[in-house]
Amino acid sequence: MAKDKIKRIAVFTSGGDAPGMNAAIRAVVRTAAYHDLHIFGIHNGYEGMIDGDLRRLDIRDVGNIIYRGGTILKTARSKRFMTPEGRRSAYEALQAFDVDACVAIGGDGTFTGAKVFSEEYDIPIIGIPGTIDNDLFGTDYTIGYDTAVNTAVQAVDKIRDTADSHNRLFFVEVMGRNSGFIALATGIASGAGNVVIPEVDTSLEHLIELLRLGVKRKKMFGIIVVAEGHKLGPTTEVAQKVQEAIDFYDTKVTIIGHMQRGGSPSALDRLLASRLGFGAVEGLLAGESNKMIGLVNNEVVFTPFGEAISNSKTPNRNLVRMAEILAI
Ligand code: F6P
Repeated sequence: MAKDKIKRIAVFTSGGDAPGMNAAIRAVVRTAAYHDLHIFGIHNGYEGMIDGDLRRLDIRDVGNIIYRGGTILKTARSKRFMTPEGRRSAYEALQAFDVDACVAIGGDGTFTGAKVFSEEYDIPIIGIPGTIDNDLFGTDYTIGYDTAVNTAVQAVDKIRDTADSHNRLFFVEVMGRNSGFIALATGIASGAGNVVIPEVDTSLEHLIELLRLGVKRKKMFGIIVVAEGHKLGPTTEVAQKVQEAIDFYDTKVTIIGHMQRGGSPSALDRLLASRLGFGAVEGLLAGESNKMIGLVNNEVVFTPFGEAISNSKTPNRNLVRMAEILAI
């Protein structure tokens, strides 16, 4: 597809939603309108692409959404798009609407699908990283991460009040199936005593040793932030074992869960989403294709889908040590 042939583009959100996706949709639609492109919104991610669930979007359709969480286009994880038949139907649906190029907002599953699709069919796609997990290579931050961290920090601040009042030790589990970015940032920003993430080996013995040290230093309560995907075992079982080893604290578990996925996006997420949405459309028009747009050192960069998916981005291990030292 020659870049000067791009006249009609479609935007969709896919995978888990993330605060700031709407701000990205708004930026895509308005930048496309500025360049006199026709723009369609695809409902329900790849599922809607397969079913031909596309509707025209104009500049007023995306008014009043920059501050809203979720995604006005809805989102889904599509099993059908993993099959060649599903992708063929999706291609035919895009052709029926004369769509020349797509903007996909989502995470690694979304870009894995986009990569395969772009290898099979000649439709340029630019991906915008939208996931609270911040686990994508090719961008320093993903849309939704900052908001999710702020939500988790507010929750820990509240738990701290009750932990302090009752001399309790709380395990607070935050999201991150395979990644510890949210946990690490939340732990540091909330002043938690320990952080347990999948990327760093932490033994139960080490954790118990640190907690005993805390008791000696007269720490009257404690907060341990753990990522959902940590390797110590189910958080409730870990808390139980800690309770058996240390009877000084009454030990509790709080799982913050999907609350982290909702809410009005932070200013940082709105800014990031606006820059990436704008850059995605201008990138397509400049001939970029089958890449994820991201922000690295505050500059917009494009990373081929293959690299964005296969390379991993891991949290800075030194920060785990720093979190422990600062919580002394
Ligand atoms: O990808 C973001 C994420 O929030 C993960 O951290 C979490 O494990 C997952 O989504 C849960 O998503 P869902 O409940 O939609 O399957």
